[in-house]
Amino acid sequence: QSSANTPHWRPEVRFTPRRNWMNDPNGLVRHRGEYHLFFQHNPSGIEHANMSWGHAVSTDLVNWQHLPVALEPDELGEIFSGSAVVDEHDSSGLFGGGSGIVACYTSAGRTQTQSIAHSSDGGRTWTKYPGNPVIDNPGIADFRDPKVIRHEPAGKWVLLLAAGDRVLFYESTDLLNWTKASEFGAEHGAHGGVWECPDLFELPVDGDESRSRWVLVVSINPGGPAGGSATQYFVGDFDGTEFVNENDPDEVRWVDRGADFYACQSWFGVPPEDGRRLWVGWMSNWAYAQHVPTSPWRGAMTAPREVGLTESSSGTRLVQRPVRELESARGPARHWRGMVPEHATAPRFRGTALDIVAEFEIVDGRPEFGFEVLAGDEHRTLIGYDAESRRLFVDRTRSGSAEVAPEFPARHETPLSVDGSRVRLRILLDHCGVEVFAEDGAAVLTELVLADEGDDRGRVFCSGGRVFLESLRVHELRP
Ligand code: FRU
Repeated sequence: QSSANTPHWRPEVRFTPRRNWMNDPNGLVRHRGEYHLFFQHNPSGIEHANMSWGHAVSTDLVNWQHLPVALEPDELGEIFSGSAVVDEHDSSGLFGGGSGIVACYTSAGRTQTQSIAHSSDGGRTWTKYPGNPVIDNPGIADFRDPKVIRHEPAGKWVLLLAAGDRVLFYESTDLLNWTKASEFGAEHGAHGGVWECPDLFELPVDGDESRSRWVLVVSINPGGPAGGSATQYFVGDFDGTEFVNENDPDEVRWVDRGADFYACQSWFGVPPEDGRRLWVGWMSNWAYAQHVPTSPWRGAMTAPREVGLTESSSGTRLVQRPVRELESARGPARHWRGMVPEHATAPRFRGTALDIVAEFEIVDGRPEFGFEVLAGDEHRTLIGYDAESRRLFVDRTRSGSAEVAPEFPARHETPLSVDGSRVRLRILLDHCGVEVFAEDGAAVLTELVLADEGDDRGRVFCSGGRVFLESLRVHELRP
């Protein structure tokens, strides 16, 4: 593979390691005003190997400060994915009566076990617990990715991890001694691949705290709707011990129907007065992650997103939108309003890092319409809505000349029910990828693209009918 550097593919506002390999976000915790982002990282190469926890911090979720590697492999194995919590009242006894951050990760050695490390200095230095592993391997090959949450009503810590085709739940009062409490999933959801990276949180429905539900999130590889890896979720109840799915066990709900949203994890410790559930995902897919030709880094995070639940005609559904902090990275907007004729030639715009907010009104026929972006003479990426099939799509079949893998050039779609004839889109894009949020984040498509240098033209397109552009704002993104 070519080792030439590819600065034009470096995302403008999304996180990438300075150099070398990155996959899952890990240990997401907010502590003393900082958002910590740890991540699966090879500190010494661009392949998936020597897994360690890389580290960065941010106060605004947009600008990240790179910090030294936090956790490196030891005699128990490589440091696989995991989570972190703030131990406010020293329930672990690791902080001498003070407080600090406790990380819980998979030690991936001869077998996979769960280990603990702690930090008293805001995540800058770490001490591994001498009693590791804290959860030994019970004879299950895939036994990893511990996510620790605090269950306040039951006054205890809960740890969930992925075990092949299910999620196992453990409980503890001190973060060190764990007892198995329950299992979920062998007969629920998608099982086209191994389960990984679970997460669990409670969310109000449409902002109403009295109608809250628990959401269990599980990544799966392979078996995703766009091929390869993807993330599914379940909505139901959790009493501190057991998760109960309130929907048909056979129903599969995908968090994102694009190819590149995986192993997402939410931040622990966002203050209650803020109240948001924030998460970030790895913007890649195990089907081709190891062949993405960026250099000197490989792997990117999506923009951080706020997650919510909404009641819809198809039940209680997850919605996602980019965090509002991202708006601080917007330059002034260009603005349009007006009729878009068939075979439109306008509006046109340029740019390689854009935040697009659009509202269309279908006035005639069942058109296919949207945006052609990152276009040059030979390449373009299409993002649009097909009113005939009622589907949102991203088409990266001709996004650029880079060859990644045979399955990479593809069109990915998701059903989208719209309000009458209105279609609302929010698109974050740069030379390395697009994140498309439709109808307030009810449908999301996240896709890597590898646009050629200089391909920066954008325009609205429409065929098979006519649309009125109620409003279009195109912001340049520049942190
Ligand atoms: C998910 C995953 C995890 C594992 C980590 C290893 O992408 O496979 O299950 O802990 O990556 O890097």
